Amino acid sequence: MGAQRTIYLDHAATTFVKPEVLEAMIPYFTKYFGNPSSIYGIARDSKHAIDVARVQAAKALGADPDEIYFTSGGSESDNWAIKGIALANRKRGNHIITTRIEHHAVLHTCQFLEKEGFEVTYLPVDQYGLVNPEDLEKAITDRTILISVMYANNEIGTIEPIAELGAIARKHKVYFHTDAVQAIGTIPIDVKSQNIDLLSLSAHKFYGPKGIGALYIRKGVRIENLIHGGGQERRRRAGTENLAGIVGLGKAIEMATADIPGHNAKIRSMRDRLVKGVMEKIPHTRLNGHPEMRLPGNFNMSFEYIEGESMLLWLDEEGICASTGSACTSGSLEPSHVLLATGLPVEISHGSLRLSLGDANTEEDVDFVLEVLPSVVKKLRDMSPLYQKSGKEGGCNVQ
Ligand SMILES: Cc1ncc(COP(=O)(O)O)c(C=O)c1O
Repeated sequence: MGAQRTIYLDHAATTFVKPEVLEAMIPYFTKYFGNPSSIYGIARDSKHAIDVARVQAAKALGADPDEIYFTSGGSESDNWAIKGIALANRKRGNHIITTRIEHHAVLHTCQFLEKEGFEVTYLPVDQYGLVNPEDLEKAITDRTILISVMYANNEIGTIEPIAELGAIARKHKVYFHTDAVQAIGTIPIDVKSQNIDLLSLSAHKFYGPKGIGALYIRKGVRIENLIHGGGQERRRRAGTENLAGIVGLGKAIEMATADIPGHNAKIRSMRDRLVKGVMEKIPHTRLNGHPEMRLPGNFNMSFEYIEGESMLLWLDEEGICASTGSACTSGSLEPSHVLLATGLPVEISHGSLRLSLGDANTEEDVDFVLEVLPSVVKKLRDMSPLYQKSGKEGGCNVQ
C-alpha cells in the first residue's frame, strides 16, 4: 500500500506553482494568446505583459528592464552566458575560471568549450564548499575572459561570497557570471553593488512554472547570441516568447522577493529543528555544507554505512520525497562531485541525503521525518555487514 500523505522535501529540484502565479498566467493561454510580435490588439496585450514581467524581474535583481532576457530556464541561461562570452571575446583571451562544485549546466558547458580550444580552471572549495577569493585572484591571467561561480550550491546549500568574488573580477576587468538558480527568493540580490555582469535564474525554483528562466546581461557586456532566428528579445534570443511562462516568472519573482527575511526565518527554523533532531537521534551522521552560510531550506547529511538510494526508496514508501543530491538519482552510481570536492570520502558521500524545505512544508512534516528517518537508517544499518563488523552501534557525530 502507498503512503497516506506526501511530504515534499525536494524544493531544490523544483517547486509547486503558487495559485496566484497560475492565476496570473491563465489569461495568456486563452484570452491574450496573440504573438507578441504581431501588431493587432491582443498581440499588444501580450507584448505589454512581457514588458511588465521584465520590470518585475529587473526590480528583483536591482537591474534595468532592458538588461533582462527571457530564456527556457537555468540550463539555457548558463549555456548562453558561458558560450556567449567565450565566443564574443575569443580575441581577448581563451581562459575561463569556474569551480568544481557548479551545476552540470555550467560544468558540461565548460568541458565542451575545452574541446573547442578554451582553457578552464576549476577552483577547489574548502570542506564547507566555499571558494577562497585568494584562489580566484591567483588563477586570473591576462587571457582570462570569464569567471563563473554559482551563488548557492544546489546540493549542499553553501552560499558563496559573490560580492567579494565579483569585486575581484571587476578589478581585473574580467566578466563575472553567477548561476543564481538556487538563490532567488532566499538571498537579496543587487547585481550592481555585487559586481555581477551576468546572472542566470529559473522560475521553477521559486514557485513559478518550468521551462522559463532569464539571463541578466549588464549593459555593455560583449556577448554572442546562443539561439539564432527571429528578432525577439531585442534581437538577442530568437523564438516566439513563452508568453504565459514569462508572465508566471514575473509574478513568481515578485512574490518570492517581497519578504525574503520573513520567508527565510520560517524555513530556517524548520530546517534547524530537523538537523538538530537528526543529529540527536542518529549516530555516525554529519552535516554537509557550511553550518551558517547556507540556504535556509537546505539539509544535506551523510549517514555512514548507508546507501543513499536505499534510503530514498524507504522514505518514498512513507510518502517522503527526498533526494541524494547527487547524480545517483539520475541512474548513475557516481558519487556527488560536490561532496567529493569538499573532501568527503567516496563511501560516506554515497550515504548522503538532501532534504530541501520550502513553502510546501509545515512543522508536522518535520515531526514526521524525525519519526521516520531514524528507523529507516537503523533498518538499513542492521542489514549492513560493514556496520555490524564496525562495532559502531551507538556513538557520536561529526558536525
Ligand atoms: C544551480 C542550478 N543551476 C542550473 C539548474 C538548471 O536549471 P533548469 O532546470 O531551469 O534548466 C539547476 C536546476 O536544478 C540548478 O540547481
